Amino acid sequence: MHIGTTLTNYIIETQRQIQGATGEFTGLLNDIAVACKKISDLVNKGDLIGVLGSAESENIQGETQKKLDVITNEVFLEALAHNGHVAGMASEEMDEIVQLPPNAPRGHYLVLFDPLDGSSNIDVNVSVGTIFSIIKAPPGVTNPTLEDFLQPGVQQCAAGYCLYGPSTMMVFATRDRGVQMFTLDKDFGEFLLTHENVQIPEDTAEFAINASNSRFWEPAIQKYVDECLAGAQGLRGKDFNMRWIASMVAEVHRILTRGGVFMYPVDAKLKSKGQEGKLRLMYEANPMSLLIEQAGGVSSTGRERILDVQPQGIHQRVPVILGSKNEVERIIGYHAA
Ligand code: AHG
Ligand code: MN
Ligand code: MN
Repeated sequence: MHIGTTLTNYIIETQRQIQGATGEFTGLLNDIAVACKKISDLVNKGDLIGVLGSAESENIQGETQKKLDVITNEVFLEALAHNGHVAGMASEEMDEIVQLPPNAPRGHYLVLFDPLDGSSNIDVNVSVGTIFSIIKAPPGVTNPTLEDFLQPGVQQCAAGYCLYGPSTMMVFATRDRGVQMFTLDKDFGEFLLTHENVQIPEDTAEFAINASNSRFWEPAIQKYVDECLAGAQGLRGKDFNMRWIASMVAEVHRILTRGGVFMYPVDAKLKSKGQEGKLRLMYEANPMSLLIEQAGGVSSTGRERILDVQPQGIHQRVPVILGSKNEVERIIGYHAA
């Protein structure tokens, strides 16, 4: 594969190398790319077409939905429901799994997605993204039930995100073929390969956490961050830099590009609300963990590999600690101590 090749061509070539693969996977990725191009266009136009601001609704997590949360969810459903590449879908913005209309053609894949990640950033014109996870429906299943979706992240066939930043980028990984980055050329509407086989540096001096939660942190996180803040004067013997964008897609993109650590750990405040984390396992943590691992990084709850977590529900939350291998392993060590 060469720099500049189109996403479509890359997927066709990848599919050729996978034994028994049919055109269905290529078709599915193409549907997702089409949805992301539409969302990119909506996000770019923003206030010009009146799509910013809040909708008068809440999602299953009790979070106020932005107009664009609702619109982008519709774009995604519409792009995938009619082409015979999926058997079912699930979304951050929908309480229940999505059943296809009775007469719609069926495919073999299940897709879970967060149509607009970081949506609190949309009104202030800061980067947002779309995250997706692809698993196989159990053999013979054409009308999947909730149980058919509850597969651990290791089972993902592919996962990725689209980042709507200064440029629009599609970042994509299959289970064993590494991470590729494509940049959208808006003039002719194609994603072109711009970074091949991305690898995350094992060491870093950059971490990302919402420090306003520090008084609720567990000792392991407190210890790690204290050591980073102590910098060259502390036991780490080097200064650290801190970032917090509040768009997971943008944070993961930075880590894939130049290394770093991202943490949204469980804390006393979340626990008091009965939550085991803030981020959602099936359409945030799992797809990002596949990308991070495929790029040589580590992704953990602090106590368990995220990709091994057995999901109990579509909207389940988990603690997330991911990024440069040596740093994440250090933080896992602090949890074990
Ligand atoms: P979403 O907009 O899909 O609800 O996700 C936002 C997530 C994630 O992208 C980000 O890392 C985190 O929430 C930010 O949380 P805080 O506002 O608590 O910092
Ligand atoms: Mn999100
Ligand atoms: Mn979202």
